[in-house]
Amino acid sequence: MLALGGKKILLGISGSIAAYKAPLLVRLLIKNGAEVKVVLTPSALDFVTPTTLSTLSKNPVNSSFTEVKENQDNPEWNNHVKLSLWADYMIIAPATSNTISSMASARCDNLLLACYLSAKCRVFIAPSMDLDMYNHPANQQNLSQLKTYGNIILESETGDLASGLKGKGRMMEPKNIIKCLISNLNHELSLKGKNILITGGPTYEKIDPVRFIGNFSSGKMGFCLAEAAANLGANVTYISGPTSFKISNHSINIINVVTANEMYNEILKFFFSTDIFISAAAVADFIPKFNNSKIKKKQNLSKISYIENIDILNELGKIKTNQIVVGFALETDDGYENAYDKLIKKNLDAIFLNILNDKNNVFNSEYNQGKYITRKKTVSFEQTTKLDLSFKIFEQIIKDI
Ligand code: CTP
Repeated sequence: MLALGGKKILLGISGSIAAYKAPLLVRLLIKNGAEVKVVLTPSALDFVTPTTLSTLSKNPVNSSFTEVKENQDNPEWNNHVKLSLWADYMIIAPATSNTISSMASARCDNLLLACYLSAKCRVFIAPSMDLDMYNHPANQQNLSQLKTYGNIILESETGDLASGLKGKGRMMEPKNIIKCLISNLNHELSLKGKNILITGGPTYEKIDPVRFIGNFSSGKMGFCLAEAAANLGANVTYISGPTSFKISNHSINIINVVTANEMYNEILKFFFSTDIFISAAAVADFIPKFNNSKIKKKQNLSKISYIENIDILNELGKIKTNQIVVGFALETDDGYENAYDKLIKKNLDAIFLNILNDKNNVFNSEYNQGKYITRKKTVSFEQTTKLDLSFKIFEQIIKDI
């Protein structure tokens, strides 16, 4: 059986120079066993012809809401609802800034957008833009927004751009789109029915009414884990420490906390009905003795005393029943030994080790790498996006369930 055998794929092409790669994508989809139908935006017609696409896909190709067929006087309606419901997956490649913005705001002035808005299937979006356009906050915000609706963004690649600039923005290569699709299909809904609880971000502990101790965690890794789990069909609760990273996803139950104790209390509400708990939060290890009034410059700050904070994971390791409990370890030295030590001491099933050094700054980065360690095995992961890494971590957890 071919990897995409029997899958029905609706390919939407919008008007970018990268549309010249769309016929290759159609060929690869078909080679892998998929049935393909194509819709184009009117401006995509400037870059690629319907004849090429219909020949390769062996299906009619549509670019408008209506068309006049041979020997007919009246135009016929291209039923976007029927097309969308036909599809097991929709891929929008290339997706231009214009199309992405319309998708994020539910504009519906062409057939591709109408199909997208009516689609009930998983949608993959392959942005294609020039460097600065891709980086524009409005585009980044629209992509984040589209993710929150459960769409999967096929990360743009870095390299030569049509403008002559070099950088991120190129449409993902067709062969890589196929890989992502197949990997998603293999994972699809593999966590269906599972309750997954994840913590992420820092915790803050107050020093006085205006100051706190915290750390540099952005919460991105925790949130990517939550998104991956939701994409794999799990019921996800994400408990987040304070972060400026904007998080919203309609399919995830998000709870915001500030301190470690607040985080622990929220965890306890869900822990005993949880199948998998992942502690990606960077919990503050110390609680300063709280000063009721603002500490003045003249006061000696070295006089602040601290007590040890709750070690949430350690407590959960003591009370766990049949939950799979996964920790994170951020280390600067002796990475493996320290991480393994935490795995044993905190009674974990697995721990993900991040090494923090000059070359690898995980804080606030889109990327991460590290080692997934259990009592029986260690699996190393090269640097990749935090979302991709999250899928890979779940792949390991699922093997252990
Ligand atoms: N953790 C926790 N509560 C704490 C500290 C850490 O639940 N007070 C969890 C983290 O979420 C992580 C794991 O324990 O999953 C390891 O955290 P890390 O900061 O690497 O280690 P610590 O246990 O704090 O030990 P140390 O700071 O000495 O390395």
